Amino acid sequence: MNGPGAKSYERHGERGIFPVGTVIVRETRLEADNEIPKTVLVMIKRAKGFNPDGGDWEFISADGIDLKIREKQTTGKCLDCHKAGKKTDFAFKSGSDPNLR
Ligand code: HEC
Repeated sequence: MNGPGAKSYERHGERGIFPVGTVIVRETRLEADNEIPKTVLVMIKRAKGFNPDGGDWEFISADGIDLKIREKQTTGKCLDCHKAGKKTDFAFKSGSDPNLR
């Protein structure tokens, strides 16, 4: 999480919508103690109109080792799943829904 989004994230759920320029990064690991993540997932809040059906988010996945971008999408599987969090601007609070992991 970078500057513009940090405050919103703290209060996420109260205000709901993240400001343009928010970048949320999530690292996934095969084992909790792996030093290098397997995949780095990124959500970037773009300008209004960028992705009207997806909260104007851009979804990116990159390799955990060389950070090479694997996918960049505005629709597709990332959004399909993140739609479940539409009420909270397509983002989940950690541990919000264990059934979705
Ligand atoms: C199977 C459903 C599913 C798919 C597919 C999915 N996500 Fe997620 N994502 C989640 C859930 C659930 C969380 C919250 C995890 C937690 O609470 O620890 C999450 C968390 C995140 C976060 C951290 C911010 C947040 O919402 O809590 C980012 C960034 C993210 N995902 C990006 C992506 C990207 C990019 C893709 C596609 C390459 C993707 N996700 C595909 C379900 C999914």
